[in-house]
Amino acid sequence: MIPTNTFALLPLAAIALSALSAQPASARIGGNTVSHGIRNGKKPHLPVVEPVKRANSDKTKRKVKKRKNSCVARPNNATATLSTSGPSSTASLGNGWGVNTDATSSWQATSTSSSAPAATTSAGTSYNSEWTMTENWSGNSFFDHWSFWSWDDPTHGTVHYVDAGTAWNEGLISINDKGNAIMKVDTTQNVQGGRKSVRIHGNLVYTGGLVLMDAVHMPVGCGTWPAWWSNGPNWPYGGEIDILEGVNAFSQNQISLHTGSGCRMVESEMEMQGKLTTGNFDQFNCASYETSNQGCGVRDTYHTDGYGEGYNAVGGGVVAMKWDKEGIKIWWFNRNSIPADITAEQPMPSTWGTPVADFPSTECNPYQYFYDHFNIFDTTFCGDWAGADNVWNYAGYAGQDQSCAAMTGYSTCSDYVLNNGNAFQNAYWEVAYVKYFNSTTAL
Ligand SMILES: *[C@@H]1O[C@H](CO)[C@@H](O)[C@H](O)[C@H]1NC(C)=O
Ligand SMILES: *[C@@H]1O[C@H](CO)[C@@H](O)[C@H](O)[C@H]1NC(C)=O
Ligand SMILES: *[C@@H]1O[C@H](CO)[C@@H](O)[C@H](O)[C@H]1NC(C)=O
Repeated sequence: MIPTNTFALLPLAAIALSALSAQPASARIGGNTVSHGIRNGKKPHLPVVEPVKRANSDKTKRKVKKRKNSCVARPNNATATLSTSGPSSTASLGNGWGVNTDATSSWQATSTSSSAPAATTSAGTSYNSEWTMTENWSGNSFFDHWSFWSWDDPTHGTVHYVDAGTAWNEGLISINDKGNAIMKVDTTQNVQGGRKSVRIHGNLVYTGGLVLMDAVHMPVGCGTWPAWWSNGPNWPYGGEIDILEGVNAFSQNQISLHTGSGCRMVESEMEMQGKLTTGNFDQFNCASYETSNQGCGVRDTYHTDGYGEGYNAVGGGVVAMKWDKEGIKIWWFNRNSIPADITAEQPMPSTWGTPVADFPSTECNPYQYFYDHFNIFDTTFCGDWAGADNVWNYAGYAGQDQSCAAMTGYSTCSDYVLNNGNAFQNAYWEVAYVKYFNSTTAL
């Protein structure tokens, strides 16, 4: 299932891992994603920095609120105060080119009198949000918040992940004139072994929260497998939440959970726009080992702009991931439909309507099966999903009508990726921000 020439890239341990995690070919046709997880409870390599552990809490389910059309203006009595007085709770990491991140900003919502500076919206509107922004990763300091994974790809891609210094020096990462973070891939026409790219791990470890990610552009094209996701430790026991992910010429986002044994979805409680995917295994079972790594997945069959070319055509938008006592929900708002409360940094998920994906807590305690997560961006090529024979050679699912083999004229993904750098001009992320919010009531 792995194109032979990628074996050259792999250490023996990774080859063994790939064999252990092999799954029936048909499991991936129209089915669920292959996990990014670091498989079999082993890490081939440690991340650059081991995230700080936090205590888990055990919370119970709360009833889902129905959408109310209630972006009601309220008196301006809350303001976001930027504090740079001390180290933030999480950033204490070097970043590979000498920037001290110890003074990373943190935010505190502060109640003030009505004569205090108004809340942050241009309209002066403030919202009755139960979420407070704790981290705002954007602009020139965006890359200070991430560690670069510069080892082999755990998903066996035809990729060569580079460290921060190399990425910077070779122009794979940059901040553009809009202040957005760019993560590109090497577009040299012919390369050996793997194509250069980046995989970055967020230097914040969290258990529950609301994460907003605004990307103007995402990587597209045959051979690509980009993703924005989060992982816990000791995979799959700390859980994996695949938030924005797909391969090749998909136009539909595939959202998936991968967990230890015991986490199940209850269909009657899932209120969502997307469709639960099916595969060779029980699609309600999120456990990786019991489903040959299938996990439980939702495909966004509702939007035409939730992934790929459609996503880029509309200038992207905001993906919201809420992980609290209700469970895990993911929303997608394209550039033209971003709620004002999100723009105002006072998110009101209860007003956002039906999410794309809804993984209720009913039979999956969101603090037992998920803990100590950190976010990840990557762009890999081929590998376990995009490059699998039955994915490269077939189409008719996830909005892709023609196979990549037919579209490119190459019979293997790796051959195509290694010999067509020009085809990857659009295989880049342009990220406006990643924002983290916390709540004393929702979690
Ligand atoms: C100020 O905000 C708090 C908390 O959001 C709210 O309970 C209170 O009613 C607000 N006060 C005014 C004067 O709007
Ligand atoms: C967060 O970052 C965005 C993008 O750089 C910026 O527009 C916004 O003002 C920041 N928010 C705060 C509270 O500093
Ligand atoms: C929110 O606070 C809880 C409790 O302190 C913590 O476990 C969690 O990691 C925080 N989430 C974020 C996104 O900071």
